[in-house]
Amino acid sequence: MNQNEQKQAVAQVAVDYVARHLPKGAILGVGAGSTVNFFIDALLPLRAHLGGAVASSEATRQRLEAIGVAVVDLNAVDRLAIYVDGADEIDPRLCMIKGGGGALTREKIVAAASDVFVCVVDSSKQVERLGRFPLPVEVIPMATRHVARQLVALGGEPALREGFVTDNGNLILDVRHLAIHDPAALETTLNQIPGIVTCGLFALRPANVRIQK
Ligand code: 5RP
Repeated sequence: MNQNEQKQAVAQVAVDYVARHLPKGAILGVGAGSTVNFFIDALLPLRAHLGGAVASSEATRQRLEAIGVAVVDLNAVDRLAIYVDGADEIDPRLCMIKGGGGALTREKIVAAASDVFVCVVDSSKQVERLGRFPLPVEVIPMATRHVARQLVALGGEPALREGFVTDNGNLILDVRHLAIHDPAALETTLNQIPGIVTCGLFALRPANVRIQK
């Protein structure tokens, strides 16, 4: 199976998971990225089962609406039973690096509002230790250089993602060479740096279920 076939296969398993576990009429959390796009395509037969969806990106919102799923604001719901999203890397404890598509902040918010995070990944995303994939960090534009210096002090090598602005109007630094021995500790450290909106480590709130190839 090539990578796209794997993404399609895990997307179908995730749809089956949602069909079995999401109460009829409930709102589903939906992440962002190419694996999630396959998931949305496969969601079509389940449309009538869903009360709607909360989307982690504008692209996801448009794709859900295109298949007739009503997209609702997160402020209009309490908790979400299930959130389905991809990852750039996932370790054996289900900690992840996310944000390759730049949607990490909304992804982290929707994940935090969800009871079960279902992570759908092809075989290339599964790692023993996080850190080969450059860590995406969303920053307030005026703080970019300040944040970059803090990241260098932590041993990282930040690079501005050229020509990219997030759905929130911010910038992304992709950080190479950070030693991620303790993902939750590093996430906590990065969360303390003024100017960082969100870092792409999802360790304090890891996934609950991994659907993999
Ligand atoms: C977007 C993400 C995606 O989940 C991650 O980049 C994986 O994407 P893909 O499914 O295209 O490989 O975090 O911000």
